[in-house]
Amino acid sequence: MKPILISGVQPSGKLHIGNYFGLLKNFVDLQNTGRYQCYFFVADLHSLTEDFDASKKYQQILDVVLESLSVGVNPEKSTVFIQSQVYEHSELTWILNTITPFGELKRMVQFKDKSERQKENVNVGLFDYPVLQASDIVLYDAEFVPVGEDQLQHLEFTRAIARKFNARFKKILVEPKPLLTEIPRLMSLTDPNKKMSKSMPEGCLFLDDSPEEIMNKVKKAVTDSGSEIKYNTQNKPAISNLITIYKGFSDLSIKEIEKKFEGVGYGQFKKELAKAVIEGLRPFRAKKKLLSKNISRVEKIIESGRKKASSKAAKKMKQVKKVLGLVKK
Ligand code: TRP
Repeated sequence: MKPILISGVQPSGKLHIGNYFGLLKNFVDLQNTGRYQCYFFVADLHSLTEDFDASKKYQQILDVVLESLSVGVNPEKSTVFIQSQVYEHSELTWILNTITPFGELKRMVQFKDKSERQKENVNVGLFDYPVLQASDIVLYDAEFVPVGEDQLQHLEFTRAIARKFNARFKKILVEPKPLLTEIPRLMSLTDPNKKMSKSMPEGCLFLDDSPEEIMNKVKKAVTDSGSEIKYNTQNKPAISNLITIYKGFSDLSIKEIEKKFEGVGYGQFKKELAKAVIEGLRPFRAKKKLLSKNISRVEKIIESGRKKASSKAAKKMKQVKKVLGLVKK
């Protein structure tokens, strides 16, 4: 049997190229190696821990599925599902809560960051976020989880809680290993000191931006003093960011990009960059357009994913209940 690999994304608006190079592209590459049984899900329960608009939630969930499929998540190769539709995620979270030390969760960097950011809404769900994430993973006996550096602590927590469960009850939970992926830090086109984010749309390249929008945003991108296309995050943060984006859409290294654009001015470089982004995202736009016209197909994919994920999760949950003594032996 091939080892199981799982990944989740939160539904929180349109995907941008930062999300793409961060997680999705990597997941798709891993999926396409054929070496894993892949699960890919929308972490909608997690997303409830941040401020949100209920009237938009379902559409956002559907959009993430649609955009993920358009980017290459393949339902023939991966089980694609929505977290809240598989009830065992919530159920196992409660059980793991009872063996999770309060102090462990208090140490979580993401919890500290997010409670700083949304001071008015430091809810218990935000605190419990890592336990839900651990449940997402151990429910499927996942051995591998592709993550960026920021999620390593949550994965370490998952391993610790699985170990603890196994030691206390019976060895039935798999300790997952991280597949650490290097995530390029993409900065805003309008302010290279800030992370590229949907909250500053002018500085953010969305996967479904039209060629005109891409051209305009890249043309308007701020640059640094000087005129050379040189990678230097200290002295040339804006140009370095544009080089990083170019690298994502080409097979070239930073050195090769500098060489290619030797003697070329900022304006010309930006034009070439915009062209590369427009070309690079062409298959995505085409696929998304096609799928948008066929939402019933997307819904079928979700339903078939729900069935597959549920059957796997239900089996695990049964085992868990058994070793806890909740059901007849
Ligand atoms: N916390 C992850 C993120 O924000 C999303 C996530 C939730 C996840 N559950 C997961 C990722 C399980 C991998 C496995 O990026």
